[in-house]
Amino acid sequence: MIRIVSCKQISLFKIFDTPQLAAQTLAQEFKLTAENILNYQSRFNIALSGGNTPRLFYSILSHRLTDWPAWKRIHLYWGDERCVPPEDSQSNYLMVKESLIDKINIPGQNVHRIHGESEPVSEALRYHKLIMDNISTIKHDWPIFDWILLGIGEDGHTASLFPGSEALKENQTICTIAVNPGTQQKRISLTLPLINSARNVIFLVSGRSKAAVVQSVIKQKKESVLFPAAQVKPLSGILTWYLDREAANLL
Ligand code: 6PG
Repeated sequence: MIRIVSCKQISLFKIFDTPQLAAQTLAQEFKLTAENILNYQSRFNIALSGGNTPRLFYSILSHRLTDWPAWKRIHLYWGDERCVPPEDSQSNYLMVKESLIDKINIPGQNVHRIHGESEPVSEALRYHKLIMDNISTIKHDWPIFDWILLGIGEDGHTASLFPGSEALKENQTICTIAVNPGTQQKRISLTLPLINSARNVIFLVSGRSKAAVVQSVIKQKKESVLFPAAQVKPLSGILTWYLDREAANLL
């Protein structure tokens, strides 16, 4: 069951009975969005999320769109990456490779992973340049992604932008170095201004453990000003939340 809870300015909130229904609907709407945008531009540039939640979505895409012709014009980037080698079990690239890339007919040159194995400062510069060189749509000096998928942590982080981090202040570069405060693990993350320049930004969230942070961000509760996810406010794009009933339990 889908309920459009409300359409606030540029935000949509869609609540589903199960994570499967949320992921299935997101896959359908991803396909429609891509095919629509590919009607008038040569590429569809997307940035993918890591973590566990999107695995189901990637798996559904791989089953439903295995031989989708559009993959030849879709370019995959990452919203963030842990500073680990690509074969490391913590790698966001590896998770997407196993759940999606290895199962679809996407050309290798369309997959632009963040090199987690490289020295972070030089890799952040390389990825910044890669995006600048490859994404031709520029607005207010920022490259425009067509579609960015995000998750949210219980502490309100998104991508690898954690509460109170220096990375949150970065407003000159496309990506920056971040640190997971819980593990001190270095990460590379897209920055807030880049995320907020996108045409479509999606939060895919499931599970009761996320209900409190979802409520806080969506209801713009006082404490949410500290949450990076609450600062995701696309300047002219559309923000859509895909929530299962558990994550939306407090709305
Ligand atoms: C990462 C993600 C991160 C993730 C949230 C939620 O690299 O881990 O970019 O922002 O989306 O931590 O993770 P779960 O989906 O596993 O709850």
